[in-house]
Amino acid sequence: MKSDSEITQLDPALLPTHVAIIMDGNGRWAKKRLQNRVKGHEKGADTVRMVVRISRETGIRFLTLYAFSTENWQRPKTEVSALMTLLNRFLRSELSEMRQNNIRFAVIGETGRLPDSVRIEIDRTIHQTRDNDGMQLTLALSYGGRTEILNAARALADSVLSGKIDVAGIDEQSFSEHLYTSAMPDPELLIRTSGEFRVSNFLLWQIAYSEIYVTNTLWPDFTKEEFIEILKDFQGRERRFGRVGTE
Ligand code: IPE
Ligand code: IPE
Ligand code: MG
Repeated sequence: MKSDSEITQLDPALLPTHVAIIMDGNGRWAKKRLQNRVKGHEKGADTVRMVVRISRETGIRFLTLYAFSTENWQRPKTEVSALMTLLNRFLRSELSEMRQNNIRFAVIGETGRLPDSVRIEIDRTIHQTRDNDGMQLTLALSYGGRTEILNAARALADSVLSGKIDVAGIDEQSFSEHLYTSAMPDPELLIRTSGEFRVSNFLLWQIAYSEIYVTNTLWPDFTKEEFIEILKDFQGRERRFGRVGTE
């Protein structure tokens, strides 16, 4: 099969350990078809399933998907509740797949703001996949990068006040350990669909040196072929981290 041979064209040694994706363009996909925005989110859920599968098959260790931002709470009530329903459906339908494929499930964000029904499903999925040590799938839900950084700053300030650490002890490592992503490496690759050149409050601290790939493709139209092409493009990039190049 074409896609399988393309996966084998990837160099496993140069694969990103952590891929983060801003899944954008569901609304525009639906609008183009004169359909309700929710139809776009439904179709987008199929793309999520594909991306999870391809990530696991290629050997990516961490996949983090931006599914709902703190700012997305400002959308119309009907759209928010449709997204929550869809999320519940996704978690229920994917649990067995995750268990079969050794995928560990995690969530980052202000989960306390999510409806109880979603929180129950999230807790169940986390619990039932907790011993898996294959790929980690993380959904960013009610996630905002600035809130995450503020929470870390508050926790560190508390530790200073209570004498557990001194101010000089606040460094990049201790700061990172107070983020939702403390147990993950930073993403080497950040993908955004639908052609917007912005990060929309996603992983602000963690993407300091991520390679960024923006595609015009709307999320529901995103294919495995394009995903593999992006991974190939990543493998051709020279990551300099502020130093001089090798050539
Ligand atoms: C991304 O698609 C999904 C979420 C933000 C929940 P959008 O709903 O933002 O789609 P556009 O940007 O309006 O096309
Ligand atoms: C970013 O998309 C959030 C998610 C993909 C969940 P948005 O559509 O909410 O971002 P903006 O409004 O274009 O910045
Ligand atoms: Mg959008």
